[in-house]
Amino acid sequence: MASRIDSSRVVAVIGSGVMGAGIAQVAALAGHPVRLYDSRSQAATKALAEIRAALQRQVDKGRMRAADADAAGARIRAAASLDDLSDASLVMEAIVENLGSKRQLFADLEQIVNTTCIFASNTSSISITAIAAQLGNPARLVGMHFFNPVPLMELVEIISGLATEAAVADTVHATAIAWGKCAVHAKSTPGFIVNRVARPYYAEGMRLLTEQAADAATLDAVMREAGGFRMGPFELMDLIGHDVNLAVTQSVFDATFNDPRFMPSLIQQELVSAGFLGRKSGRGFYRYGIDAVNPCA
Ligand code: NAI
Repeated sequence: MASRIDSSRVVAVIGSGVMGAGIAQVAALAGHPVRLYDSRSQAATKALAEIRAALQRQVDKGRMRAADADAAGARIRAAASLDDLSDASLVMEAIVENLGSKRQLFADLEQIVNTTCIFASNTSSISITAIAAQLGNPARLVGMHFFNPVPLMELVEIISGLATEAAVADTVHATAIAWGKCAVHAKSTPGFIVNRVARPYYAEGMRLLTEQAADAATLDAVMREAGGFRMGPFELMDLIGHDVNLAVTQSVFDATFNDPRFMPSLIQQELVSAGFLGRKSGRGFYRYGIDAVNPCA
């Protein structure tokens, strides 16, 4: 069996948004020293404060010992620049869902970290083969796809691109299991497993909305209460973030040579244009704090 990345090793998390913050929290709880970096000024520092507050909430609810929460919070450091990540054994990338940005980031990192450092991308949909293609050593890059919210969701997809070394995928797989997750191997195919299967859930929901079959709250309630799904399509898209979800839809559509089943919806486009990104911006299909909908409550 492959061995995990030892918990004494540094994990660098790049992108301190919804996913990066969650990954940093999980890695720190597993014992790793964590460096959290974001290109937006103060974003990592703000995310770190939010992670510590989230850990404290777990203590308040009696789900975690105060000493464990404090220790995990203390293991995370906000990094001021990519150069601060030079001692990482694993880099977890959770930046914007854009191939060019991810390629550029990993190219920069290749100049900073040592040759044994593993590169993992949390991309929802972009080809791992394509992200790795321009690296000096594409064999070290693998997909490590967490789900939102990271501390709660058990599944992690471990995605191998054409050049990914099997030992790298196995090490990351073993590491995800050591972090308390359920890890599955998959090949780099458009949308991987979950996002491929889930695309029609969102797309048909938006078609039903366009056809005025029912309003979003009713459609969500039907799928949740009677359909047995944890969340309806609209509250789930609001949780994911419409900027992220539109980018993923577009990426799967492009990668399947414009298969109409995966075509993005104008509704998504309009929400993004308006800045109604979902829960993270306070408004998406629902208005948070105004409408009585809280999918995570
Ligand atoms: P987000 O928008 O909440 O956070 C992204 C963060 O990355 C922002 O703080 C931004 O400032 C930062 N960033 C952007 N470009 C950067 C760069 N070049 N260097 C450093 N930081 C940079 O996005 P979210 O939702 O956390 O998604 C991140 C990644 O995770 C995307 O690839 C997305 O597809 C994937 N993902 C998202 C899920 C979701 O439900 N939101 C679920 C699973 C994967």
